[in-house]
Amino acid sequence: MQGPFYRKTVTTFDFENYLKGKQQEVNAALEKLWKDVVAPPTPLIPAMRYSLLAGGKRLRPILCIAGCEAAGGSQADVMPVACALELVHTYSLIHDDLPAMDDDDLRRGKPTCHKEFDEATAVLAGDALLTAAFETIAAAGCDQRGDALKWLEVIHLVARAAGYSGMVQGQMMDISSGKEITLEELDTIYLLKTGALIEASVQAGAILGGGGSGEINALGAYGRKIGLAFQIVDDILDVEGKTEIIGKPVGSDQAHEKATGHSLMGREQAKARANELIDSALQELSLFGAKGEPLVALARYIVNRRR
Ligand code: IPE
Ligand code: IPE
Ligand code: MG
Ligand code: MG
Ligand code: MG
Repeated sequence: MQGPFYRKTVTTFDFENYLKGKQQEVNAALEKLWKDVVAPPTPLIPAMRYSLLAGGKRLRPILCIAGCEAAGGSQADVMPVACALELVHTYSLIHDDLPAMDDDDLRRGKPTCHKEFDEATAVLAGDALLTAAFETIAAAGCDQRGDALKWLEVIHLVARAAGYSGMVQGQMMDISSGKEITLEELDTIYLLKTGALIEASVQAGAILGGGGSGEINALGAYGRKIGLAFQIVDDILDVEGKTEIIGKPVGSDQAHEKATGHSLMGREQAKARANELIDSALQELSLFGAKGEPLVALARYIVNRRR
């Protein structure tokens, strides 16, 4: 009798090193922002840098770089946009943690911005990070000259994903919806508050990497699916993660009586849904062959991560 047959996935791609390397490169670029800027001696820039440099997985910048490289571009082409996406994301975290929103005290393993500084400073640091994001993209775009239209397209894409038809709208729905919502309504909230920026990150990379419309659309579909899966997993980690690892409080959603994939479907189904989304996202990458390997690994990381 034959024994069980196991199919091994053979890949030479070293994701652990890839992730660490990209995180270091993104962190080095972020570290330079406003380091030596001459500004009034207020807590504004210290508060911006405090939250920005506190840590974080840098997933959105890395997705942007991976999207760019998959489309044939190089990291240097998109680093300013990658940084800008992290600025938008960090602003959203600072505001998300405010007492008027999720009222959380810990973020990226440190006291939240409003705890370390104060609420008014946290509001203003968020405002300044958001505007600095667009300043950063526009400044880099001005240096490109010939490609100015592509840069305008990216500004449009990121603005749409961040604002009233994207993340801010999702956050509004998140804080105004009760525990009793349908799975469809929950998907809409997830897609807006989290999926939109993730989708825009990969697409912005593809645009500046010189991708054609087929590639840009495929990466958009990929981004939407991994973005949805990302928030499903975030909600699971909110229940079963460890504070020392996730760097934020465990049980925040339950304490705020939030509807989550976990609360509506149960843990197993939520996890299965996230896995299905990732499988489906991977199918969007068929165009890219070996150049899509980092995107494949990043999608898998989103469901397997512990933080
Ligand atoms: C947390 O995002 C907020 C959500 C959109 C769920 P991340 O899990 O990417 O947070 P950092 O950047 O690693 O701190
Ligand atoms: C927030 O979702 C999504 C944002 C746009 C910031 P959560 O409220 O679940 O994010 P965490 O868990 O505080 O990071
Ligand atoms: Mg929230
Ligand atoms: Mg929160
Ligand atoms: Mg959460």
